[in-house]
Amino acid sequence: MIGFVQLLDRRDAGRPGHVRPEGEEAELGYMFLPQVWGHGYAAEACAAALDWFTGVLPDEPVVLCTQTANGRAMRLAARLGFTEVALFEEYGADQWFGVWSSAMPAGHSA
Ligand SMILES: CC(C)(COP(=O)(O)OP(=O)(O)OC[C@H]1O[C@@H](n2cnc3c(N)ncnc32)[C@H](O)[C@@H]1OP(=O)(O)O)[C@@H](O)C(=O)NCCC(=O)NCCS
Repeated sequence: MIGFVQLLDRRDAGRPGHVRPEGEEAELGYMFLPQVWGHGYAAEACAAALDWFTGVLPDEPVVLCTQTANGRAMRLAARLGFTEVALFEEYGADQWFGVWSSAMPAGHSA
């Protein structure tokens, strides 16, 4: 195992960052071992997960939150086609919050 992609967790309505009033959006998360960064594995795995998600819940948006200081995670989000919704502070750090929709194919920013 070199890492994981998580997509079925729902974003708690009590946290900042939402794209629908009721919250509980599907949220993408990813974590890979440092030894395998820089090969596109995370991008390939996330794109496959989003592709699967489109078939299962085609009308639902997917959200993503990462620290603005996390350059790799920010570049991956952009590469996947996530677009910025909000910037806010949480856990004592600046956070970037974005959304992806199946109407916007991976790799195409709005
Ligand atoms: C976030 C994380 C998954 C990104 O990993 P990553 O390997 O940089 O991501 P990607 O799979 O998108 O790989 C992209 C890089 O591989 C390079 N690459 C090399 N060969 C490639 C190929 N065949 N195809 C695509 N990309 C390739 C790209 O140029 C890019 O490099 P760059 O970012 O320097 O421009 C990783 O840094 C990580 O696990 N971090 C710790 C956990 C974390 O912060 N998670 C997010 C919390 S919200």
